[in-house]
Amino acid sequence: MRSKLVVGNWKMNGSRAANATLLSGIVEGIDGAKAACAVCVPAPYLFQCEQLLQGSPVAWGAQDVSCQAPGAFTGEVCAAMLADFGCRYVIVGHSERRAYHGESNELVARKAQAALAAGLTPIVCVGETLAEREEGATAAIVGAQLDAVLELIGKEAVAQIVVAYEPVWAIGTGKTATPEMAQEVHAGLRAQLRTCNAEAADGVKILYGGSMKPDNARELMAQPDIDGGLIGGAALKAADFLAIIRAA
Ligand code: 13P
Repeated sequence: MRSKLVVGNWKMNGSRAANATLLSGIVEGIDGAKAACAVCVPAPYLFQCEQLLQGSPVAWGAQDVSCQAPGAFTGEVCAAMLADFGCRYVIVGHSERRAYHGESNELVARKAQAALAAGLTPIVCVGETLAEREEGATAAIVGAQLDAVLELIGKEAVAQIVVAYEPVWAIGTGKTATPEMAQEVHAGLRAQLRTCNAEAADGVKILYGGSMKPDNARELMAQPDIDGGLIGGAALKAADFLAIIRAA
């Protein structure tokens, strides 16, 4: 059986003081939790995570990465830098980056490849908008998003990624996919992974994200192909984040 993973995506939130309180609250409350967990924080706070989380069961990571190797790319952060600060994970292809920064499926794939090359685990986000769901295009949209990544990284790397299904209409809206709706998409994603690499597919974690909270986490994560959560708002409060980890 796959073990569960709960990842907090802080998005563009935090301050050194607030982070210290949040991280120490998580570390103090995490004892005995069976699920693995991580926080993906804004890049300026990676050093703080390394200092406060080193040796704890809480891993850390970033929310984006450049597809480029070090060089003249003003404002970018490369995968080797994230590895240098002890990151285990990096989110790639979050819908907010696709929407506000025009990231294409191909660029997201290159970011995943750069992360893998630096020894990081990319958390590859896929998800449809409300209009796409209403058109019945969900499977095609998320399929194309995942396909671009699988095609570039190749069969051998399938075991090294985490996938996150985040329906865009459920992010930050309080509207969650029902467990059945999410399971259907997750099962489709797993089938796609299987087509690429049959041996690896059953071991790949597929997280659900989009208004996951302490009161709906258990039901969602009880589905056979939902292997954890990618948590936005509820990851900013230690008690809520810990409750979701316990539910997992
Ligand atoms: P919310 O949990 O705030 O809906 O955000 C989900 C998300 O986008 C995580 O990456």
